[in-house]
Amino acid sequence: MSPRPWNAKITGIAFGGDYNPEQWPEEVWADDVRLMKDAGVTMVSVGIFSWAVVQPEPDRFEFATFDRVLDTLADAGIVAGLATMTASPPPWLARLHPETLPVTADGVTLWPGGRQHYCPSSPVYRRYAGQLVERVAQRYGDHPALAEWHIGNEYGCHVSRCWCDVSAADFRVWLQRRYGDVDGLNEAWSTTFWSQRYSSFEEVQPPRSAPTFPNPAQEIDFTEFGSDALLACYLMEKEIVGRITPDVPVTTNFIPMPRGTDPFAWAPHQDVVSYDSYPDPYDPDAHVLAGFGYDLMRSLRHGQPWMLMEQAPGAVNWRPRNSPKPPGLMRLWSWQAVAQGADAVLYFQWRQSRGGAEKFHSAMVPHGGEHTRGFQEVRELGAELRAAAEVAGGRSTADVALVMDWRSWWGLQRSSHPAVLEQFDAITAHYAPLLGRSVAVDVVPPSRDLSAYKLVVVPNLYLVSEADAARLTAYVDGGGHLLMSFFSGIVDEYDRVHLGGYPAPFRDVLGLRVAEFWPLEEGGTVDVELAGTVTPATVWSEIVEPAGAEVVGTFASSEPAGGPAVTRNAYGTGVAWYVGTRLADGAMDALVGRVLTGAGVTPVLPGLPAGVQATVRSNDSGRYAFLLNHATATALVPVPAATALVGPAPSGGRVELPPRGVAVLRLEDRLS
Ligand code: GAL
Repeated sequence: MSPRPWNAKITGIAFGGDYNPEQWPEEVWADDVRLMKDAGVTMVSVGIFSWAVVQPEPDRFEFATFDRVLDTLADAGIVAGLATMTASPPPWLARLHPETLPVTADGVTLWPGGRQHYCPSSPVYRRYAGQLVERVAQRYGDHPALAEWHIGNEYGCHVSRCWCDVSAADFRVWLQRRYGDVDGLNEAWSTTFWSQRYSSFEEVQPPRSAPTFPNPAQEIDFTEFGSDALLACYLMEKEIVGRITPDVPVTTNFIPMPRGTDPFAWAPHQDVVSYDSYPDPYDPDAHVLAGFGYDLMRSLRHGQPWMLMEQAPGAVNWRPRNSPKPPGLMRLWSWQAVAQGADAVLYFQWRQSRGGAEKFHSAMVPHGGEHTRGFQEVRELGAELRAAAEVAGGRSTADVALVMDWRSWWGLQRSSHPAVLEQFDAITAHYAPLLGRSVAVDVVPPSRDLSAYKLVVVPNLYLVSEADAARLTAYVDGGGHLLMSFFSGIVDEYDRVHLGGYPAPFRDVLGLRVAEFWPLEEGGTVDVELAGTVTPATVWSEIVEPAGAEVVGTFASSEPAGGPAVTRNAYGTGVAWYVGTRLADGAMDALVGRVLTGAGVTPVLPGLPAGVQATVRSNDSGRYAFLLNHATATALVPVPAATALVGPAPSGGRVELPPRGVAVLRLEDRLS
């Protein structure tokens, strides 16, 4: 089914944020509307944490507040992403049904007082949530303010899995569906090890706290089960709103790097993907991992524009120390999301709360009101987004795919491995040089068709099925270029080692065998000789035996000294590169440059200065370049003939961008 449009009632990029008027006396609402209009707000997310307001008791629904909220918005011409309100159950549910509360692996119950205190598998939670959704959908299904259903909120943000008895029973059903009989499960989980063999599904438990390392396959399955249990909650709600309001689109917002929910499994069930992004202003490279998240969001539904559902206007309040965003940074990072495919720039939240746990989290309207720098920057951004309305709907094409797989991630980060490896360190090491060179990247699962890409980058694919490994091999055989790094292709989908020498399913395509892993001690380095220079590498080394691959870089110290660190293998009509360590940033950047050249991949615009990110989006109205200066110095950016929609106009074929500067250009040559 093609997606139902969520922005039919909006012109251009949607602008707004989470709106929680129920926290305020109604006199404040008029001021809200006045300021929303002043700031150019077009869309707000309403009712996310309002279950206790609309259903104060099990048998009593009170919609008067939200009737007035939605009418007020409709009168103001502002649309609502209306929440199904199920994200935080009211205290009475826990009083009546304590069995709905989630339990940790240590057996600790998570009580009401925060939020998201529900067991995803609880039929009682699902029944009450379903009743609420039914009432909300019936009440507001044809309200003129309604633009989309915002189902739940940040599924799995606090509770992505529950270890209670109800979950245990649900887990067994999930396992039975997956494995058919208990022998299948024993085989997949390698239960002959440590006397773990099960004689019936009834003996299987969630991986609760155990004396030592739990069974890794059990843990991976339990994590996937957790994602599926939450997805079942989402789908239960989606079915209800779909029945009552078949024309209203649905979404749910992913947390920044949703570890507990596999977005590739979820995205097909959404009309539009939405994402909450909270890069840390203290981190000068925060835009890199944020950018990875944006490319992932754009790729989830094959290039369809997505929604930045939440970002902080300034500081958050949940890190140990919370930096405000200095002038211009909120604007730069907002435009980065648009540059990478967002058609909405929304914040958490509209008006800064007076009480509660988030009163020190920034908001579009801070405690200090409309005369603050925060509100003024919000207002200015609203005006700029209006000026660039024509970019909405634009899509980008990418020649590079970066492979990311959730089950592999779940399998990777374990303490019973040669070294504890962080999935995002591997991703950043490979993604930063791509973003730094303004090469467009799609983020794809290994099961996706790769044939359209010139280069496929595999930072780390610890766990891979035979079928997916064969697909990657066939891609290279057919002329594709592959860049793969260490500890990939090690185990199958059940965390069982692919036998025949590491990395067995990739040995042929890479033209090598890894004889021994040699992880470095904490903070240790190993020298690598690469392209005529010696650079330090970190995290990992290994003893690689080439079997046809050309040695491009060599370990120059420690145990693997003299052995290959970087190789290149011609395979079929393609090429496969392999990196057996974590190169220093400069060396990795140079290597990625070489790989890109070999694959015939170019940046979206030529001659970009360091620190300037460029992207291009195209739609029926034109082709648009986005220039973002993440560096601390002014940059002169060469550009083709273009008209500025936002930021400095080109002069003499260049745009001068100050630090944190942004330019959005309509390119004159639509095809260049
Ligand atoms: C998100 C959440 C919001 C708010 C925000 C604060 O995780 O969806 O409700 O808590 O974080 O940064």
